[in-house]
Amino acid sequence: MSPSFGIRTGFSHRARPADGAGGTRTWSALLALAFVLAFTQAACTQSTTSQTESEYKPEPGEAGKDVVWVPTDTSLVERMLDIAKVTPNDYLIDLGSGDGRTVIAAAKRGLTAHGIEYNPKMVDLAKKRAAEAGVSDRATFEKADLFQSDFSSASVITMFLLEDINLELRPTILDLKPGTRIVSNTFTMGDWEADQTERPSMCVSWCTALLWIVPAKVEGTWRLGEQDLRLSQEFQMLSGRLGSSSIASGRLKGKEISFIAKGVRYVGTVSGNRMSGTMVGRDGTWSAERR
Ligand SMILES: C[S@@+](CC[C@H](N)C(=O)[O-])C[C@H]1O[C@@H](n2cnc3c(N)ncnc32)[C@H](O)[C@@H]1O
Repeated sequence: MSPSFGIRTGFSHRARPADGAGGTRTWSALLALAFVLAFTQAACTQSTTSQTESEYKPEPGEAGKDVVWVPTDTSLVERMLDIAKVTPNDYLIDLGSGDGRTVIAAAKRGLTAHGIEYNPKMVDLAKKRAAEAGVSDRATFEKADLFQSDFSSASVITMFLLEDINLELRPTILDLKPGTRIVSNTFTMGDWEADQTERPSMCVSWCTALLWIVPAKVEGTWRLGEQDLRLSQEFQMLSGRLGSSSIASGRLKGKEISFIAKGVRYVGTVSGNRMSGTMVGRDGTWSAERR
């Protein structure tokens, strides 16, 4: 059976503290509690010491700050990199990098890659594995909280978190550079539909790779030739009008825009307040300026 992610708040720092103490306990109960806590702490210290002396071997399901550790199947790691169409020019950041497998796999493909991971023991393990793989120069790791981290320099972001975490990150992700690729293992972005979904047959559990490409922001009115192009945008989906005609099949893929108006398919590239391209099937070009 697949290890369960459990309920996020079961491991979250945001969980409301289990309460119920509040002044009703007797002194003897408190003394007994203090004794138990001291004893437990001593036992924990001893077990941690003996664990760090041998190699740290995390178990799937191990508690994490906002989500437990469950490793991505290695076949899915490769598929996630494939659907992001990574090249050595990319800079990849894995949010919650665990034992470093995605970062290391990316570095083996020639990318510079970085893992952000809250658990310091995981960070050390990932660094050790990167050294063993001979990619420490391109695969780096830091102990940090992904919610406090700036990942805007990445051209590819990978993650295996939870849907509510993805949703919390979504506004920040939508403000990243258009064209940034986001790849998630299994968990969706709510009503932001994935641009591509893949399920490799060799994978055993948690086997869905989802890709989103951060769309350019084009909502508003543009002047295209002698007509107004009015665009409404929901993530990568576009609707609106060119002059008095509705547009159809409007879509963005990063900075690439396409739509059909008056039977003509427009394809082009958005660059700030200007977009331009060609009319498919017509021997012509088009451009539009934001009004
Ligand atoms: C499901 S595991 C995925 C590990 C790795 N990305 C992979 O695909 O194999 C999620 C990881 O996120 C880490 N994590 C949880 N909350 C975090 C936070 N707020 N900041 C950074 N890492 C976090 C956990 O410790 C765990 O290693």
